[in-house]
Amino acid sequence: MDASGDGVGDLAGITSKLDYISALGVDAIWLSPFYPSPMADFGYDVSNYTGVHDLFGTMTDFDELLAEAHSRNLKLIIDWVPNHTSDQHPWFAESRSSRINDKRDWYVWRDGAPDGGPPNNWMAAFRRAGRAWTFDESTGQWYLHSFLAEQPDLNWDNPEVEAAMHDTLRFWLDKGVDGFRIDVAHKIGKDPGLTDNPADVEEFTALDPMRRHDQDWPSAHERLAAIRRVVDDYPGRMIVGEVYILDLERLMDYVNASDELHLSHNFVFLHQPWDADAFRKLLEGMEELTSPEAWAAWFLNNHDHSRVATRYGPHAVRAAALLVLTLRGTPFLFQGEELGLPDAPVSPDQEVDVDGRDPERAPIPWEAPSSNGPGAGFSSGAPWLPITPEAERLNAATQSEDPGSTLSFYRRLIRLRRQTVCLQSGSFELLSSPKEGLAYVRGEAEHRMLVVINFSDAEVCFEGALAGLQGTARVALATDPESRPHEVDLRAVPLSPGEGLILHL
Ligand code: NOJ
Repeated sequence: MDASGDGVGDLAGITSKLDYISALGVDAIWLSPFYPSPMADFGYDVSNYTGVHDLFGTMTDFDELLAEAHSRNLKLIIDWVPNHTSDQHPWFAESRSSRINDKRDWYVWRDGAPDGGPPNNWMAAFRRAGRAWTFDESTGQWYLHSFLAEQPDLNWDNPEVEAAMHDTLRFWLDKGVDGFRIDVAHKIGKDPGLTDNPADVEEFTALDPMRRHDQDWPSAHERLAAIRRVVDDYPGRMIVGEVYILDLERLMDYVNASDELHLSHNFVFLHQPWDADAFRKLLEGMEELTSPEAWAAWFLNNHDHSRVATRYGPHAVRAAALLVLTLRGTPFLFQGEELGLPDAPVSPDQEVDVDGRDPERAPIPWEAPSSNGPGAGFSSGAPWLPITPEAERLNAATQSEDPGSTLSFYRRLIRLRRQTVCLQSGSFELLSSPKEGLAYVRGEAEHRMLVVINFSDAEVCFEGALAGLQGTARVALATDPESRPHEVDLRAVPLSPGEGLILHL
């Protein structure tokens, strides 16, 4: 939400929408980076870890947002970007100034290969960025950047870097933030020998990650444990890592480690096709690999990926929400997901992101454009990205009034979760079900809920008897807005295409 009218969302805008966020029923907000930044990667290129970019407001605006969030019992989690800074950060300016500067070793500088090329074959995560190395004419060496050349990697092998970064955490912890989302947490440990990756390694693929030298090195775990110790000096704080590893076993090393991150985002989950069997296999795999103390972090939408309404299609929106909000673990939602927003079409002349992620980042339409103008209540100015053409139907104001809307569904679903202990912390058991669907039970003894979801576009029938269930159960929530509370006979529970139900057993 843009309060200043410059077309870009800002901190005061978020504060003005806290009542909306509260009404949704969530417990916490995660803010993407709002620090001073040249914005080569929309704030993930930080030039000052302890400031606020004037595009987003002032430190006073931040303090106000934090206080207003807390007064509504909402926690505030902020994004922390430890792997790299901006090339405009004063640390990097010093580091690149000469080979003998005190901060030279704060970044990763190397001589080129004998053939004059970069020191090794590591590639940047963004395809358009190419190699992960850039040559610096003035000092005649190459520096490492896992993302853009404007995002040089910090050298976490240098204890001074680690200490300085810990101080940036303490700055925000002292202010009272409730925790951090740690950007590319698995990248703060790399092979200090800078050994080549096998030639076929691509970013974000499941190719045997054991063989990668540019991330997920054992030192990442030690460093996350040290970060946890900093955070644990402050009561009640939480760290969630962006652990972008698509190999379940490697990912589970982060989920299971009880003295590192509290939570690790599960990207394997997000990468599943909309197919019940795929999700079943993944959930079974996780069950096998999860230690009793581990706690999952589920999500199907974020600012780096096509939204569910586009990736899977509008028919999947409610069923996907039901899945994310009833699994055992902590669900994360992305702004506008609760409205069922699709990706916005962005023409080449409107593109601003280097990696094609504009469509999912388009602003929330707060009001109908017909009543509020082309900015749809997001901005009185020209929005930084186009508003979805479906804003007239999908805006927050219209959906708030409509009990059959996606927004009303999300509100009911989150309320049910908040009121139902077994959906929050009860055990999880997958049941046998038709291959087009998923069925699972949350909770134990007297307090159990059954969740059934039909992923397909045909009717399927869940047969409770095959899964050991008998008698009848009362529907607590259905994806179908027309459905009224009713009892179903568990011998045969018919589900229409894309339908999901939560039932009291
Ligand atoms: C992951 C963030 O989610 C993404 O938006 C960013 O571009 C990269 N990390 C680099 O910081």
